[in-house]
Amino acid sequence: MGITIITQAFPYFCAVKEPIKLVILISGKGSNARNLVNYFKKNQHVRVCGMISSKQNQELASYCTENQLFYTECSPWDEARILPILNKIGCEVVVLAGFLKKISPAFIDAFTHRIINIHPSLLPKYGGAGMYGRRVHEAVFANKESNTGITVHLVNEHYDEGEIIVQHDCAVHPEDTPATIEAKVQQLEHQFFPKAVEQYCLSLKR
Ligand code: GAR
Repeated sequence: MGITIITQAFPYFCAVKEPIKLVILISGKGSNARNLVNYFKKNQHVRVCGMISSKQNQELASYCTENQLFYTECSPWDEARILPILNKIGCEVVVLAGFLKKISPAFIDAFTHRIINIHPSLLPKYGGAGMYGRRVHEAVFANKESNTGITVHLVNEHYDEGEIIVQHDCAVHPEDTPATIEAKVQQLEHQFFPKAVEQYCLSLKR
C-alpha cells in the first residue's frame, strides 16, 4: 500500500521546482524591500531569502531577524565581499529596491538578465547618474511635468538604461509638490513592483 503511493507520487515530486531565490539590495529606508517580503511570504514560486544594505540600517536588521531573513550590511560597498555571499545563498535573482551603488560588469556577468531595478520615473526621463529618490521628483516638479511614474527594468552597465520590463504612470497636478509626487510614485511602486518581479521571475528558464 505504502509503496503504491510513493510510486504514483514520484513523477509529481520530480516536476516540482524549488522556489526562485531572491536577494534584495537597498541603500534607503527599505519600504519597497519590506513590501516585496510581504508579497512573496506565501508564494510557492519565488522566495525572498534576505537583504543586503549598503548603509547601516538597524530597523531593517531587526525586521530581517523577525522575519527569519538573511541580512548583512556592506559599507563601504564592496562587491568582492557580496558576490560570494550571493553564491552561497544560491541567489538566482537580485532585486535593487532603492539601491544607489553602481553595479560592476563582473556583477552583471554573474547575474545576466537577473538583476532587476526599480526607478521612480518614466525612463528614459529623469534617469542616469545622480538621479535618485527625491531628486527625481524635484526635477519632475521643476519641469512642470503633467505625468510621472515608475519603471521596472533590467540592470546593465549604464545607470537606468537596461531593458524595460514595465512602466506605470500617474498624473502630476499643479498643486502637487515634490513630496506629494514622491508619495504618489511610492504608492505605484508598492502596488506594481512585486507583481512585475514575480512575472519576470516566472518567465525565467531554469
Ligand atoms: C524608491 O522610490 C526607488 O524607486 C528609488 O529609491 C526609493 C527607495 O525607497 N530608487 C532610485 O531612485 C534608484 N535610482 P525605499 O527605500 O522606501 O524602498
